[in-house]
Parts: sequence; C-alpha cells; structure tokens
Amino acid sequence: MAEKTGTLYGIGVGPGDPELITLKALKILRQVPWIFAAASSKNTYSIALNIVRSHLNGAGIENLPFPMTRDPDLLAAAWEQNARRVLAVLEAGWDAAFITLGDPLTYSTFGYLLKTLKQLKPDLKVVTIPGVTSYSAAAAACQTPLSEGEESFYVVSGALGAARLREALARTDTVVILKTYRHFPEIYRTLADLNLLECAVCISRVGLEGETVVRDLRELAGRPLPYLSMIIVKKPKQREGEPPVPATG
Ligand SMILES: C[S@@+](CC[C@H](N)C(=O)[O-])C[C@H]1O[C@@H](n2cnc3c(N)ncnc32)[C@H](O)[C@@H]1O
Repeated sequence: MAEKTGTLYGIGVGPGDPELITLKALKILRQVPWIFAAASSKNTYSIALNIVRSHLNGAGIENLPFPMTRDPDLLAAAWEQNARRVLAVLEAGWDAAFITLGDPLTYSTFGYLLKTLKQLKPDLKVVTIPGVTSYSAAAAACQTPLSEGEESFYVVSGALGAARLREALARTDTVVILKTYRHFPEIYRTLADLNLLECAVCISRVGLEGETVVRDLRELAGRPLPYLSMIIVKKPKQREGEPPVPATG
C-alpha cells in the first residue's frame, strides 16, 4: 500500500453532447491516471465513456461491470467488488475518476459506489463534480421551462407505477419522467386517462446521434422507445373554478 491514498473524483460528464462537460470535469479527466466507468456485465459499453473519449489524453480506462438486475443481494455483491477494485487503485497511491452520465448524484451508479466505499474506508477523500442533467438538456432541446415563478417540478422514475405517477401529476406543475424505456405503455395509459397526452413531450437521446423530440405522444403509441428517453409533462395552468388533475381515475 502506498503512503498516501489517492482521491476519487466522481464526475458527471453531462447527458450526451461532449461540449456539455464542465471545465472542471475536463481538467480532472485530463489529470487523473485512471478512469473507471460503469458498464453492464453483459457487454463493455459505457455511454459515459463514449461521451468523454475525445477529451481524454492517455488515462487508463477500466469498466466496472454491474449486473442488470433488481436483486438487492446480487447488486450489493457487485458494488462491493467494484468498490474494492477502486479502493485498490486509490490505495496504490493513484488518483482516479469514476464517470457517470449526466449528474453523478441524480439516479446514478456513483451513489452506490460512494456509499460502499465510505463503508469500506470512511476517511476516503472523494470529490464530486456535478454534471448537466439529462432533463436540463431535454428542457433546452424542446425549449420548455421546467418551472417559472412559484411553480415546482418533480423528477420521477418511470418505474414508479401508475398510481404514484398520478399522485406526482396531481401535486405539482411539471413532472419529468426519467427511465421511461420499458414503462412507456403504462405511462402512456396514465397520461391518456388524465387527458395529459397533449401536455407531454418525449425527448430521446438528447445531444447524441438520433436525438428526437416528439410533441405528440400518440405518434409513439405501441412503439419501443430508445433506452435514453424521458417525458416532460407540463400541466396546463388551472383556471379558477376548474378541478385540478385528479390523483385517481
Ligand atoms: C440512470 S438515469 C441517469 C440520469 C443522469 N444521471 C442524469 O443526471 O440525468 C438514466 C435515465 O436518464 C435519462 N437520460 C439520460 N441521458 C439521456 C439522454 N441523453 N437523452 C434522454 N434521456 C436521457 C433517461 O430517462 C434514462 O432512462
């Protein structure tokens, strides 16, 4: 073990466009000798790595495999193994970066890594560099303000189920639904039931090849969405005397 343990930088590389990386992230990516990226255990593809590849200058690159499963035991075991690997590099005295899509503390694998590393070594030095979130880039792509004045917005997972999606829609002005991919049919039905299809826009692969902005969700009915897709629902302003969007039915 080296005398001094290295620092881990958790870096958000933005949602896709390589120009949406912060100057700070870029500086660190060009300084660190080792870069980790999360990849599925089935292949070595990392979207985050593809985004930064053109910016790198010689750092070693290592994919950390994580299984596409919801089994908490399998996930915990994979994260412990990944955290131990990261720790081994840091304890050899090297600084390292862990790159993630968008922001590292928004629905990101970095959260799991951070938690596991802090359990293994509570005094580990970790610096987190925020990134442009996917929904900021999506709002920009469709020029839809997420909130104005006293409005508020929720960011939810598409996997939360119809009942909780209705609750979210009833409680706030704008709802951003991430992780829509496999859940699109249920989301579509919920929005249709609430007469909100016309207030929704679906943004896929923002900043990446094949970016699309679909303002009429009916065009997408029955079709698979690209993996990187989200839906922004901006509710119409309630006029006096009108009932709010119901939470049920
Ligand atoms: C695991 S979350 C990652 C969120 C990311 N950390 C962030 O800050 O935006 C993955 C979800 O983010 C959304 N997403 C990420 N990048 C995207 C992109 N370029 N275009 C559209 N949606 C994207 C999709 O909803 C996808 O299912």
